[in-house]
Amino acid sequence: MGRTGIEIVKAPLDEVISDLLKAYADEWLAHYQYWVAAVTLKGVDADTYRPVLMEMSAHELKHAEKIAKRIIQLGGKPVLQFEKLLATSGCGYIPPPEDPTNYEQLIKDILKAEQCAIKFYSRMVEKYRLTDVVTYEVFEDLLQDEVEDEQTWEDFLAKL
Ligand SMILES: [Fe+2]
Ligand SMILES: [Fe+2]
Repeated sequence: MGRTGIEIVKAPLDEVISDLLKAYADEWLAHYQYWVAAVTLKGVDADTYRPVLMEMSAHELKHAEKIAKRIIQLGGKPVLQFEKLLATSGCGYIPPPEDPTNYEQLIKDILKAEQCAIKFYSRMVEKYRLTDVVTYEVFEDLLQDEVEDEQTWEDFLAKL
């Protein structure tokens, strides 16, 4: 990134990058979690959930891209080795339920991922509000999206 862009960051750069890397890994794993659920889902309601999962999966990948751009601006690199994603992530990865028609379990697992992201991003927003306003805005953007995602799945869960 430009020198001035780096100079205005008052938080320790390695710490900002490490928080962004955690978010990056979480987004990638959420992207894969929703995508693989979409393709493996079966049963009468599969056609209801599949497009929502696919769309959300695409959004999570966009989130990863947004975070990667910020990591690179700060002089870092996104996770380059696929096998390191899990160890870097904060929220982890939950595979789709054994039973591909178990929508309740599927939705609860998605809610876990979204709630973990909401808690993490909300901490990050507090942390960087005054020390790195650009990173703050990235996290704030993501936070708004995850809050919406949670609402979507809570509504689905309530309808089961
Ligand atoms: Fe996300
Ligand atoms: Fe999400």
